[in-house]
Amino acid sequence: MSSLAKDDTAPPAQQRLPGAPVHVGVIMDGNGRWAARRGLPRIEGHRRGVEALRETVRAAIEFGLDYLTVYGFSMENWNRPVEEVADLMGLLKRFIRNDLNELHKGGVKVKVIGARDNLKPDIRALLEEAENITVRNTRLTLIVAFNYGGRQEIAAAARALAQEVAAGHIEVTDIDEAVFARHLDTAGIPDPDLIIRTSGEQRLSNFLMWQAAYAEFVFLPMHWPDFDRQAFLAAMAEFSARERRFGGVPGQYGKTLADVVKT
Ligand code: IPE
Ligand code: IPE
Ligand code: MG
Repeated sequence: MSSLAKDDTAPPAQQRLPGAPVHVGVIMDGNGRWAARRGLPRIEGHRRGVEALRETVRAAIEFGLDYLTVYGFSMENWNRPVEEVADLMGLLKRFIRNDLNELHKGGVKVKVIGARDNLKPDIRALLEEAENITVRNTRLTLIVAFNYGGRQEIAAAARALAQEVAAGHIEVTDIDEAVFARHLDTAGIPDPDLIIRTSGEQRLSNFLMWQAAYAEFVFLPMHWPDFDRQAFLAAMAEFSARERRFGGVPGQYGKTLADVVKT
C-alpha cells in the first residue's frame, strides 16, 4: 500500500492471493425475507443487514481487496412504502455516524455513487463528509451505491458527453469506451471482477450495468443478514476456480487460483 495512507496505524492488508479479485460488488438482498421468516418487521432485517455489511467490510480488508462496492439503495427502491424508505434512510445515516470513525481508522476510503440531487440535505451532507474525511485513505475503497441506477448512470454520462460535444469541447468521434467510462460515477475505478448476490435472486436489478460486462457472478441462496466472512471466502474461492476469457480462448489469460494450487 502507498505511503500516502492517512492512517499509518491500520494493520497491513493480507497479501492478495493469485487469482483473487481486485474489485468485488455485492447486491445485499433478502433482508425483508430474512425478517419475515422470523416473524419480524422488515426493518429488523435491514438492521441485521448493516451488521453483515460491517463484517463484509472487515473481511474485504483482510482479504486484501482494493475495491468493494455495496448496493445499498436502488433508484427503484423509492417505489417501496414511505415508511420503509424512511427506515432505510435512517439506517444509512446511523451507519455513517456510527461507523465512519472505524472505517477511517481502518484506512477505508468511502466513495458514494448514485444521484444526490433528490436526497435530503442532511443525507447529502453526511455522504460528502464520509467522502471528504476518508479521501486520502488507500487500504480499501468502499463504494456505496446509494440512490443508484446503472441505466440512469449511463444516461447521465450520455447527457454529459452530448453537452461537451454541443459546447465544442470534444468531437463525436472522440467518444469511445474509455471516454464514456470516465463520465460514469465509477470513473477511475476498475470494473468489478466478481459480483455476489444473496437471497437466491439471479438478476442485476440495475447494478453496475456498464461495469459488469465481464464480471463473474456468484448467486447465493442465503439472505443478506446471514452473509458472513465464511460465505464471502467461499464466493471468492468459487471466483478463483473460474477461468475468465474476455472473449479469448482457454488459457489465454493465465491460470486460475485452482491451477496454481494444483501445480
Ligand atoms: C435488500 O433487502 C435491501 C434493500 C433492497 C435496501 P430487501 O429489502 O430487498 O429484502 P427482500 O428482497 O424483500 O427480502
Ligand atoms: C436490489 O435489490 C437493490 C439492493 C440490494 C439495494 P431489490 O430487492 O430492490 O431488487 P429486486 O426488486 O428484487 O429486483
Ligand atoms: Mg430484495
